Formats: sequence, C-alpha cells, structure tokens
Amino acid sequence: MEWMRFGLWRKRLKTKIAGPMALEVGVGTGKNLHHYPPDVAVTAIDFSPWMLSHAKKIASKLDIDVNIHLMDIQHLEFPDNSFDTVFATFVFCSVPDPVMGLRELKRVCKPGGRLFLLEHLRPGNPIMGFLFDMMNPFVVRIMGANINRRTMENIRNAGWNILKDERLSSDIVRWIEATP
Ligand SMILES: C[S@@+](CC[C@H](N)C(=O)[O-])C[C@H]1O[C@@H](n2cnc3c(N)ncnc32)[C@H](O)[C@@H]1O
Repeated sequence: MEWMRFGLWRKRLKTKIAGPMALEVGVGTGKNLHHYPPDVAVTAIDFSPWMLSHAKKIASKLDIDVNIHLMDIQHLEFPDNSFDTVFATFVFCSVPDPVMGLRELKRVCKPGGRLFLLEHLRPGNPIMGFLFDMMNPFVVRIMGANINRRTMENIRNAGWNILKDERLSSDIVRWIEATP
C-alpha cells in the first residue's frame, strides 16, 4: 500500500484534522500517528489488539496527544457529538457492516464537524467492477479486505452529506470529505 504513494496522501491529515477533539477509527499499526497535528487531542481505536500494540509503541515515541483504545467501529463507546473531526484510512474495506460503522461515526461527530476518509472502492467501470466482484472472495480470504465496497453509497446511506470526492488513483482510491 505505502508503495503506491499512499504515504503521501496520508500527509494531508495534518492540515485537515481539526480539534479540539478528533477520532481515528481503525488506527491499525499507527501509520497516521506521524500526521496528527500537535494541538489536537486524538482518540484512536481499533478492534485488533495486535494492531494496537504496534500503534502504542509508535505513539510512545512521538510528541502527540493520543488515547488509544480497543473498540469496534460498529459500537463506539463515546457519547453523541463528542468529536470535531472523525477520520479513517483504508478501513471501510474491512469493517463487517460499513454502514453501521459510518452511522456510528456520524453519531459521535459534532454538528458541523468533518469526516475524512482515504479509501479504496469498487471501480465504476462495469467490466472492472465485475472483475473486482469476481476476485473479491479470494482477496478477502488472503488479505481480509474487500476490494468491491460501494463506499460512496454507504456514506450517503449512513446519513452523511458528501462535500468532496477526489479521485487519487483512477476512481478506485479516493479522498472523501463529509459533514453530518
Ligand atoms: C487495512 S487496515 C488500515 C489500518 C490503518 N488505518 C492504515 O491506514 O494503515 C484496516 C484496519 O481497520 C481495523 N478494523 C476493521 N474493522 C474494524 C472494526 N469493526 N472496528 C475497529 N477496527 C476495525 C482493522 O483491525 C485494521 O487495523
């Protein structure tokens, strides 16, 4: 993934994450921690203890304000309207029920807040889309991630208003901004 310029795209987070409170879901091994702005209190969650142990090691070496928790995106343990910014990178391809997860993000995001997503999606071209559908079961078995998620539809179905949909690599990898 990093090999495909994803590292450069992550850098955007530094200018986008607004506080005082922000939430990263699916923090994984902590590849975005380097891009947290120093003046924002970030809470980061993931449901994999193994991933979180790596993220915690990286966080301990950085001068950032971060709280890391074991938690499922589909059942966030935060009150409504808790965060100014909610964000995730390459996560909604593997969340079992992505619409449920996106609804939870909307619930915890303050009115007027922002959602930022960097995601790979099912291609819009019908032939490519069909091929991705065919390959998906094998990719899920090998990598645990779906390559045919209809994430734009999922975001709308979860009730978000999409502000930006930028195609970074054909129409498959996208930078998405939305508000509740
Ligand atoms: C492909 S990794 C991306 C990790 C990181 N965001 C990055 O960009 O490197 C997807 C991450 O989402 C996490 N994840 C998937 N479904 C989740 C859920 N329902 N709740 C919490 N974390 C989840 C996985 O454990 C994994 O760490």
